[in-house]
Amino acid sequence: MVETELRAASVPAAQAKPAASPIRKVGVIGAGVMGAGIAAQVANAGVPVVLLDIVPGGAAKATERMLKTDPAPFMQKAAARLVTPGDIEGGLPLLADCDWIVEAIVERPDAKRDLYAKLEAVRKPGSVVSSNTSTIPLSALTQGLGEVFAADFLITHFFNPPRYMRLLEVVQGPATRAEALAAITDFGDRVLGKTVIPCKDRPGFIANRIGGMWMQSAINRAFDLGLTVEEADAVMGRPMGVPKTGVFGLLDLVGIDLMPHVAASMKATLPETDAYVLGLRDNALITRMIAEGRTGRKGKGGFYTREKGAGGESLKRALDLTTGDYRASDKPQLESLALRDLRALAEHPDRGGRYARAVLLDTLAYAAALVPEIADSVADVDAAMRLGYNWKYGPFELIDRVGAAWLARALAEDGRPVPPLLAQVAEGSFYRVQDGALEYFGTDGGYHAVPRPAGVLLLADIKRRAKPLARNGSASLWDLGDGVACLEFHSKMNALDPGTVEMIGKAIAMGRKGGFKALVIHNEGEQFSVGANIGLALFAANIAAWGEIEGLIEQGQKAMRSLRDAPFPVVGAPSGMALGGGCEILLHCDAVQAHAESYIGLVEVGVGLIPGWGGCTTMLRRWAENPRAPKGPMPPVAKAFEMISTAQVAKSAFEAKEMLLLRPTDGITFNRDRLLADAKARALSLVEGYAPPEVKPLRLPGASGRAALAMAVQQQAALGRATPHDVVVCDHLAETLTGGRKDHTEETTEAELHALERRSFMALLKTPATLARVEHMLETGRPLRN
Ligand code: NAI
Repeated sequence: MVETELRAASVPAAQAKPAASPIRKVGVIGAGVMGAGIAAQVANAGVPVVLLDIVPGGAAKATERMLKTDPAPFMQKAAARLVTPGDIEGGLPLLADCDWIVEAIVERPDAKRDLYAKLEAVRKPGSVVSSNTSTIPLSALTQGLGEVFAADFLITHFFNPPRYMRLLEVVQGPATRAEALAAITDFGDRVLGKTVIPCKDRPGFIANRIGGMWMQSAINRAFDLGLTVEEADAVMGRPMGVPKTGVFGLLDLVGIDLMPHVAASMKATLPETDAYVLGLRDNALITRMIAEGRTGRKGKGGFYTREKGAGGESLKRALDLTTGDYRASDKPQLESLALRDLRALAEHPDRGGRYARAVLLDTLAYAAALVPEIADSVADVDAAMRLGYNWKYGPFELIDRVGAAWLARALAEDGRPVPPLLAQVAEGSFYRVQDGALEYFGTDGGYHAVPRPAGVLLLADIKRRAKPLARNGSASLWDLGDGVACLEFHSKMNALDPGTVEMIGKAIAMGRKGGFKALVIHNEGEQFSVGANIGLALFAANIAAWGEIEGLIEQGQKAMRSLRDAPFPVVGAPSGMALGGGCEILLHCDAVQAHAESYIGLVEVGVGLIPGWGGCTTMLRRWAENPRAPKGPMPPVAKAFEMISTAQVAKSAFEAKEMLLLRPTDGITFNRDRLLADAKARALSLVEGYAPPEVKPLRLPGASGRAALAMAVQQQAALGRATPHDVVVCDHLAETLTGGRKDHTEETTEAELHALERRSFMALLKTPATLARVEHMLETGRPLRN
């Protein structure tokens, strides 16, 4: 029962899944960090999963624990019900009807093979078995297990944490059945949302092999060149496009004790002449740190730590790499750090520049030397590093940034060999755009289109091929083909400003003139939109441009209504954060096709405001029209109030459905690269017979409702859970949501509610406490609790 309910929730009725996957039930063995996380992701996708562990009760405990883990492995609590935990002892028969069994037990070939032998006795014919091993060659895993097993076996290497890391490396053996590989690739891609990258059966596959070299080089060179940890991490950060943890911050995050394990396994499996093995060295400081339990965030601090200052405040400390003692953490001051251009950085004579050059040469030369040993295409290598290590650019994209010829010359200057592929590309580049299509340099010396699987549509590809239909500094309008247009935001963090509102107006006008028959709102930024640009609001408030601000709110409301009331369907397709105004845009779309990793919420109270672009009004209507919600004027108000007053954000598209920020019929796409194609299909499916929704007035409780909410807030304040300004903000919110001076005997129209939203918004913006919140948010990125 639970299972079908969940499936129904995750698969929108209007959007039939493309051919159903033959994988309907999954088994995962080993309920550790990886196994439990993989099982959770399978359950997130609405597929039942058996999770077994050798420790009695271990799988059940792991499932329980995951409900409390942050960031959450489950996209909604209910998904945990799709996990059936069990013990290996006695539980193996639970695997009999599984179509795919993933092994994620201890990293020992003998233990894994013993387990596979047991699986042969229970699994059904044609089921697929895969290992999540990070280091053991496939041939060692299938040894002695017979042909049938080898034909059904492959390696599926997930990254930690499996829900959030988008890379899935897959390795097939010489005997692996093509259908087995195809079924897992399809399931990994469409159902679990991963980018599946085929790898050769070489140690560390792609990402850990290159990532391992990068880390080793970044550590060794920092010691050799005398950089501080902050300097090293800053050089790695922006110019190179590595996440801002850099290398030492990353080690603290993953656990410094992981390093010797990785080194040992690489050393055992790679030839002695491999550049990684040649660069291995004992680092006395790191050895000492591990011995003392200073293994990073999970241990007693790492390269960075926090200490309590005299006044009880938390102070950031950094390890001095020469003495091994902590000192106050400093902002690095190197001149080279101001450079944005990667080559200029690598040519700068200060230690930051020399460090960048050294690490780039080590890492990029290594990557270039490994194609085709580890992968057939440089595009696959780049994708693996972007998705498995969160690099902004893969190694070959980095080579193009510094120039392949520059890299070859630099290597030659240092007396180092130039990898054949790098010599082959010579003065050229690893990528080029030909007739609007992105192509990569192949090992055959020719260029080939970067492949896009069927059902993958990227705005980046469209943008390479065509000019926008319209464009300003904040947003653009693109033609997706088949009569569908795409409205793209491209301001910083996709904050919404007058330019965005103007482009919405333009899009609607073009559509009304028959320029297209459906509109999708989508972008490929990290965040769909962080909401209205509060920096602009603060600026306007500081010069008391009240009329302008109120005008902008009114125009925003009008834009939202126009999205909803347009004579053609509008589909929102968010990924990442859709907050405040970004959320309000989605609330006014006819349908939403959301990436599963969408974080949606009305967070305005965090900056002392209330949703002013129809967010209050729409949430009231959503709850009033929800057949499962209690009837009467007060329940929808209480629901909307609770959500908005606490600035609740849904931590997945599924949670957004629970909160009615998405409708039950809205679609969810697991693979981000498939989101736009799914949204476009959804938009086209709505075209025939489309009529804009009817907007009914509401009956709201009025003053008595407002008083009830005020009392509840006073109680929270008395308990210390609401600050003085929370009380003020909540009162304005309550006034708006309860319909102001009207009560349940009369109807309140949308226009009246929008006027209330504006009035409350303006009143709040004029309070110093709200301005203090806005200022604080802009400065620190965190809400001020005043
Ligand atoms: P872990 O130590 O957290 O979990 C392993 C689990 O397997 C434990 O719960 C253990 O009780 C159980 N187990 C051990 N032997 C078993 C057996 N014979 N039958 C059933 N259960 C058994 O290990 P982790 O980190 O989850 O790693 C699992 C696999 O995934 C390893 O092959 C590892 O190399 C690989 N891997 C690990 C990554 C990571 O970041 N931790 C990333 C990618 C792959």
